[in-house]
Amino acid sequence: MQALLGAGGQGIRAPVDPQEGPSKGPVSSDQLVAFGKKYSGDEGARKFKKLLGEFMILLGGFYVGDFIPWLGWVSQINGLDARVEKVAKEFDEFLDSVVDEHMCTLNMKGENCGDNMSVEGEDGKDLVHVLLEIQKQNKTGSSIDRDSIKGIILDIFGGGTDTSYTVLEWAMTELLRHPIVLKKLQDEMMGIANGKADITEADLDKFPYLKAVIKETLRLYPPIPLLVPRESTQEAKIKGYDIAARTMVLINAWTIGRDPSMWDEPEEFKPERFLNSSVDFKGHDFQLIPFGAGRRGCPGSLFAMITNEIVLANLVHKFDWTLPGGARAEDISMTECTGLVIHRKAPLVAMAAPRFSENSCFPIL
Ligand code: HEM
Repeated sequence: MQALLGAGGQGIRAPVDPQEGPSKGPVSSDQLVAFGKKYSGDEGARKFKKLLGEFMILLGGFYVGDFIPWLGWVSQINGLDARVEKVAKEFDEFLDSVVDEHMCTLNMKGENCGDNMSVEGEDGKDLVHVLLEIQKQNKTGSSIDRDSIKGIILDIFGGGTDTSYTVLEWAMTELLRHPIVLKKLQDEMMGIANGKADITEADLDKFPYLKAVIKETLRLYPPIPLLVPRESTQEAKIKGYDIAARTMVLINAWTIGRDPSMWDEPEEFKPERFLNSSVDFKGHDFQLIPFGAGRRGCPGSLFAMITNEIVLANLVHKFDWTLPGGARAEDISMTECTGLVIHRKAPLVAMAAPRFSENSCFPIL
């Protein structure tokens, strides 16, 4: 946000890719939650970003053997297995260093603790510390080993990063395509913020339209359109069909979100549909399941909603957004990438003009 405001808070009056701005919000807060530290700026951060990119591509990769088991050997020939092994090894080394850093700060390592071993968690404590303490004290009665700790932090980071920022990417796209919705959202912020330039977590409950915009974005663009593949553990009969044990189950949340038997004008971006509706994303309303449902539903949904709401609220409250070079809404490409998480194929480029002057909380006219 600070980068978008530019030096001295005067703002950038040139085209920017909002993907660069908002993506950093959820990504860095997710890094902070999972690793207790943000990785940005230096050589290590660049390596980490590259590794993460490759990890995400492989997570959404197409493995012939998943669908035709006897063709599993194809992944050895086309190099996919080798890429997976390389990324797994590099990620493992990276996660080892995260665990080591935390052991140092808890004085659990004793040796090889350099000066720059620091983490940023609140009160110096974060998720990795908590997991290490559970391991040390064996509080739960069942032991948690180093590999499990690495698995948990990778799950949280992998599950939370790409998903959260793709929501912002599509929300900003739809707001640029629907200036009336953008204006309505800005009016909601302005009415409640009452002269404040910053929207904080404490304000979020007062923004029903903001919540409706995010729900509508999740309906049309569930970040993981086929959710996470699951496997049935036992035989089942569903609507007269026999489902064998160990059948892969894929749920098409994208199609469900656009099903005309459940939604009026399903292809239209209309946040108003959620204003007087109890339909929520929490897994009880099966027509809206961007976070899945049931026991394996996303444990990070509330965290994701709060980070998305804060970033989107501040992006629309602090800036006026327009398309560059006289482009029209219908010129915005809506082409999607392939993968586990569905991003825009082309970056979204827009003009950001600050709405508040540097030393004032009142709009620039
Ligand atoms: C908009 C953001 C997000 C979306 C759309 C999303 C979506 C999902 C979906 C669809 C699943 C699989 C659910 C199922 O199979 O029923 C899932 C699982 C998971 N998510 Fe999220 N997620 C998001 C953010 C997050 C965040 C921020 C975190 C962590 C801080 C997180 C952590 C996880 C984990 C650990 C799992 C695996 C749960 C399990 O297998 O038991 N997610 N998520």
